[in-house]
Formats: sequence, structure tokens, C-alpha cells
Amino acid sequence: MIPDVDNDSIAYLNGEFVRLADARISVLDRGFIFGDGIYEVVPVYNGKPFRMEGHLARLARSLAAIGIQADMTPAQWEALVADLIARAGKGDCMVYLQITRGVAKREHAFPNNVAPTIFAMVTPFKRPGAELREKGMSAVAIPDIRWLHCEIKSVSLLGNVLAKQHAVDAGVDEVLQFREGFLTEGSSCNIWIAKDGKLLAPPRSNLILEGIRYGLLEELTTAAGIAFEARPIARSEVDIADEIILTSASKEILPITHFEGKPVGPGVPGPVYTTLRAAYDRAIDAL
Ligand code: PDD
Repeated sequence: MIPDVDNDSIAYLNGEFVRLADARISVLDRGFIFGDGIYEVVPVYNGKPFRMEGHLARLARSLAAIGIQADMTPAQWEALVADLIARAGKGDCMVYLQITRGVAKREHAFPNNVAPTIFAMVTPFKRPGAELREKGMSAVAIPDIRWLHCEIKSVSLLGNVLAKQHAVDAGVDEVLQFREGFLTEGSSCNIWIAKDGKLLAPPRSNLILEGIRYGLLEELTTAAGIAFEARPIARSEVDIADEIILTSASKEILPITHFEGKPVGPGVPGPVYTTLRAAYDRAIDAL
């Protein structure tokens, strides 16, 4: 039994549906040994996956980037996710998908003729509540110590784990990571700033994971008539931002109202956040 986990929840492992607590892999799985694998987290509202095509496109990009052939078409991934949701019972949940290079003798180079390990689970999704939406989150700055392929949604997440623990130890909700003085992203979320009514984001590059909400926020921003620019954002600009906003599958869109112990702007959720939050909720309602 795994503490604090719904051990009876549904999981999928290499073609079989099992209880989460009963799913077993070899200790020689390269995901365990090397962190040699990729993953996705798909939010599901009322039984319906949100922005599924984007998640599957990124899954395919991550697999291609590290040379894993999973032999699954987008339609088969969609059917697997639909099957999991149906078995889990409708409602809000997160579908987690992970593909590793498979089980092999421990040698760094890719093994030949090894089938990838395909794992999926459904976890409860408690949407961020009124308190976070209305009061916002707190964050501190840290140097981004991660590798140079952050665009791959790799399960090698030690840098992200250490980043999040830094937030916990500092008594704040999140960290903003900076590489050579420029904003990259949070521990497991994309970061945006608003200045003079304009939304700014670090550009798509190998230094950030392009969230599925990255493209969504661009769309919502354009539709709302808010100016948008993707360009490198210096630490000095973050310090004087009117608003700081974060996005991720699990956090949706939330304001960061305190940064480095100081209020961001007036220290309450700002107008750009409020407009985009409403648009985000409408996109979910339209599912
Ligand atoms: N994290 N950047 C990083 C490093 C992330 O880990 C994530 C998502 C994002 C936002 O991506 P998206 O909008 O597709 O969720 C950006 C997921 C939720 C996780 O690891 O649990």
C-alpha cells in the first residue's frame, strides 16, 4: 500500500489495466535506472480531456527527441486515455502518461530490440480554489540549474524537484527560475509577466518546456485584445512587473502576487490575470 494514494485507482501498464497499488515494473526499467523516459499530464474536466491534441503532439515530440518508438498512433493514445477516464468514472481528474525506453541490462547506450514501458494512471484533480485565485501565490527567485533540453518533457526531473523543494523550504508556493539573468519558468509551470497592460512570456526555446497552456494563453490573449510579446525577460523586468502569472495543467492559471517577499504591483490579482482567468474558465466550460 502506498500512503496518501488512492491505491484502488486505475492504472495501465503495458497493455493491462490494474489497480495502481498492483502495478509493477522491473528495477532494470531505464526509467528507474536512468530517468530515460518522457511523460505527459492531461487535465480532464467532467470526463473530457482538455487540449488533448496539444498533449499528444508534445508527447510525440518528446518521444522523437529521445528516439523512443512507442508504436502508438494518436488515435490509440486517445482511445487509451478515454478508456482510463471511463474506468475511473467521469469527473475532474488528471491522466498521467509515461513512456520509458524499457527494461534492459544497465548500459548507458540505447538497448536493441527492447519494447518501451508504457504506463498511465488517473489521479484526482482538485482545481485551484477561490483562496489561490483571489489571494494569489508567493514566489522567490532561484538560478536555473537544469540541463539544456528543458523542451523535452523528460522524467529526469531532479532539477525541478530541487527547485520545488527550495520553495517549500523558503515557505513560499513557487520559484521563478533565471538562467544568466533571464526568466525561464517555474518548478513545473510556465511564467508570464504583465507590464502596462501587455503580456510577456519567455520565448519558446530549449530553455523552457512549452506548456500546452502556452499556446492556449496566446490564443486567449489575442481574443481578449491584450497585446502579447514572447521575448527574453530580464530579472530587472520581473522585479517591476505589474503582474506575474503562472500556468500549468494542474494549476490552470494563477496569479503570483508576492515575489521575493514584496507585493507584485498592488499585491492583488491584476486585470490581465482576471481577464485571462475568465477566458480560461470559459474554454473549460465549452468542452
Ligand atoms: N508540469 N514547465 C514545466 C517545467 C512543467 O513541468 C510544466 C507542467 C509546464 C506547463 O506545461 P502544461 O501547461 O502543459 O501543464 C511548464 C506538469 C503539470 C507536471 O509536471 O506535473
